[in-house]
Amino acid sequence: MTLPTVNMWVDYASDHLSSVTTTPHLDAEIILRNVCGIDQITVLTGAPIILNSEQLKKLEKLLNRRHAGEPIAYIIGEKEFWSLPLKVTKDTLIPRPETELLVEFVIDKLKTDDLLQILDLGTGSGAIAIALATEFPKAQITATDISLKALEVAKKNAKKYNTHNVTFKSGDWLNAVPNRFYSIIVCNPPYVGINDPDLDVGQTKFEPDLALFSTNNGMSALQKIIAEAPKSLQSNGWLVLEHGHRQQESVKKLLYDAQFKSIVHHYDLSGRPRVTAAQTTN
Ligand SMILES: C[S@@+](CC[C@H](N)C(=O)[O-])C[C@H]1O[C@@H](n2cnc3c(N)ncnc32)[C@H](O)[C@@H]1O
Repeated sequence: MTLPTVNMWVDYASDHLSSVTTTPHLDAEIILRNVCGIDQITVLTGAPIILNSEQLKKLEKLLNRRHAGEPIAYIIGEKEFWSLPLKVTKDTLIPRPETELLVEFVIDKLKTDDLLQILDLGTGSGAIAIALATEFPKAQITATDISLKALEVAKKNAKKYNTHNVTFKSGDWLNAVPNRFYSIIVCNPPYVGINDPDLDVGQTKFEPDLALFSTNNGMSALQKIIAEAPKSLQSNGWLVLEHGHRQQESVKKLLYDAQFKSIVHHYDLSGRPRVTAAQTTN
């Protein structure tokens, strides 16, 4: 058998993936770099590196997973968030770029040297908590999840970035942190309704249902968090929530009914409302 060079394999794999992804060449290249430990420049310069049969076997296996629709982040076990490559597994959501809006909101609102108490509810891979820990080194950050397996991944990510100011707790939303008070609570909860027409079935069928879906058209978790948050917030404390772009009005009403003030929305690059924040009155 004639063994291919790295570039021959990328061309072949890219062709194979072209019917299942809009980024076949990039995906093929990422898989190759992950298996062979080759950097992007080496691939780009077309260096005539010949693959060995063991590498070829591993590459075929990962290529087949990608061809079956599995997200590239699960295949290589990593996804970048806030410029931090984070470990992800099938027990964690793959962090989304729009969730960075939530981190940006906190940075805009608070001073990085404030002695803040920050709570990240439903931390998943730890993306939000770890991003905030790097931006607010003096803050005390608590990150919770009901999934013990997700918490294990989050702890590994926190260790990777030496974020000593993050502690992890398990439990159902605010029940994980009884009798604690925070300056800011951030949360990207499961907010997708089972029949949501916007659901990207391709990627989400590989992600945990617990991280994605909520009953009552995706509103149940948001409802519960908004109802419970005031008892865990300091006066003038912020609650910052990610939600679906059609949920803005419902979230606003829930916040208003729970007597939050200063309700503000933040929009993604397509101009859709994806984050809503509000402050407690006292
Ligand atoms: C949309 S994911 C967000 C993950 C991560 N914060 C991010 O933005 O990438 C929602 C997270 O909430 C967690 N979760 C679901 N129900 C929960 C509950 N009742 N209490 C605490 N966490 C919960 C899930 O396990 C999941 O990690």
